[in-house]
Amino acid sequence: MRIILLGPPGAGKGTQAVLICKHFGIPHISTGEMLREQVSSGSELGRQVKSLLDAGELVSDQLVMKVLEDRLLRPDCAAGYLLDGVPRTVVQAEILKGFLGASKTALTRVVQLEVPEQVLLDRIRHRGGAGSRSDDTAEVAAKRLQVYWAQTAPVAEFYRNEGLLRQVDGVGTVEEVSARILAAVGG
Ligand code: AP5
Ligand code: MG
Repeated sequence: MRIILLGPPGAGKGTQAVLICKHFGIPHISTGEMLREQVSSGSELGRQVKSLLDAGELVSDQLVMKVLEDRLLRPDCAAGYLLDGVPRTVVQAEILKGFLGASKTALTRVVQLEVPEQVLLDRIRHRGGAGSRSDDTAEVAAKRLQVYWAQTAPVAEFYRNEGLLRQVDGVGTVEEVSARILAAVGG
């Protein structure tokens, strides 16, 4: 099972990834989480990417895909994985395609969560407590959405052309949305 979860900021990728990964017993790979961990650990990589994350801008394709490839080569990914928030540009999708070809593996399905813009902004505004993030201000959330439409929405078209894309309504309870995703991936 190799699944990609696509969708705008606040669509519920992280929330759904946890449930889908538990269902299939596969690792949840979020480049956003990995980058935030680097920032909080104070590593050199974290110092390089902090200002981009805080501004809602994308980290460079080469840097993110190096981090991703290192992760995908770990043994727990042998039986599958779920990618959350990556690929985020068509260049990243092309790099992933090269990696999959070289490792003689293929994607099972790409699921794009669809949620209206006002709902996305409301969800991000209400995220609080342990989940609160430095990029969740109204200004940066608007920037992340703008970046999504400009740079990430074309990734859905890339996978539509590959015959892998399924669009799923991301509005409803968490359980309703998970059931739709499982139906879309054939689980
Ligand atoms: P990333 O961490 O991927 O953030 P994002 O795409 O902006 O998305 P979010 O994590 O905010 O939303 P989500 O879809 O996971 O929704 P969630 O489940 O949290 O990326 C952050 C940054 O890292 C980027 O801006 C970039 O700088 C960098 N980066 C990451 N990957 C990169 C890459 N590949 N290339 C370059 N740069 C990269 O849900 C949101 C809220 O809604 C939560 O509070 C949740 O509880 C709630 N919620 C969820 N589902 C429901 C529901 N069904 N009903 C009601 N509320 C719900
Ligand atoms: Mg997330």
